[in-house]
Amino acid sequence: MTQLKLLNGTEIPAVGLGVWQVEDGAQTEQAVSAALEAGYRLIDTAQGYGNEASVGKAIRESGIPREEIFLTTKFLPAKDDPYVEAEKSLERLGTDYLDLYLIHWPQGGPTWAWPGMEKVSTAGLSKGIGVSNFSAAELAELAKVAEIPAAVNQVYFSPFAYRRALLDASNEAGLVTQAYSPLGTGEHLTDAVVGRIAEELGRTPAQVLIRWGVQKGLSVIPKSTHRERIVQNFAVFDFELDEQAVAALDALDTTNGTADGLAATTKWWS
Ligand code: A2P
Repeated sequence: MTQLKLLNGTEIPAVGLGVWQVEDGAQTEQAVSAALEAGYRLIDTAQGYGNEASVGKAIRESGIPREEIFLTTKFLPAKDDPYVEAEKSLERLGTDYLDLYLIHWPQGGPTWAWPGMEKVSTAGLSKGIGVSNFSAAELAELAKVAEIPAAVNQVYFSPFAYRRALLDASNEAGLVTQAYSPLGTGEHLTDAVVGRIAEELGRTPAQVLIRWGVQKGLSVIPKSTHRERIVQNFAVFDFELDEQAVAALDALDTTNGTADGLAATTKWWS
């Protein structure tokens, strides 16, 4: 359960560090360093986060061989060419390949960027390619035209956004679903149900939410800039949520098990 198999044959860690909303420079470098020291081997950034150079620096300075780290970045779809932008990402990251390259959101439709993503894959710039914030309908549209299938759909996912229909469709198509903002950007940490389960298990609310995602078969990427929280968020492989706890968490969903892929009800790019 600590690694998930992707369609392209590589394995992705079940828990990683997300660096959305982490400042470029010392803050990102320290967070990535702390995560790698704590045992994380998945780091998730994006062109839109503006912190790829700091991610790359921390990875190089860790001394951990590049091939032991799973590195994701995302194509900013306001740009024209996924291939050109991937080359720039590699330059900023100071590495010669990505493990995963995602279309950050379906701006302009779900299919136009895919040939460029496939070129990134066939040229060896990234081992895997995938998408983010895609709905089940958008995944289906993409599947119709794709020569190389998307390996991952990264979406806003937690017990409160339990996109059951999207997860089912992705599982059926063999895609791994990756959960960003698994703590609801921190908002879900104070929920009473999550708190009760955490107390019963002698764990923290963050660990309960991350563990729930792991047990659903997801790759989960909590964000933190604090070393002790980074360590805590990775310590989720030595306990289990029982059926009752999972059911209580499942019941927190506010999306009615949606097949939709967006965090917001409006398209934030239009
Ligand atoms: P910080 O970065 O200051 O540590 P999400 O992963 O859902 O986006 O949530 C990230 C938010 O949750 C951030 O505000 C982060 O704060 C906070 N956070 C992350 N891990 C923990 C934790 N273990 N305990 C408390 N807050 C946490």
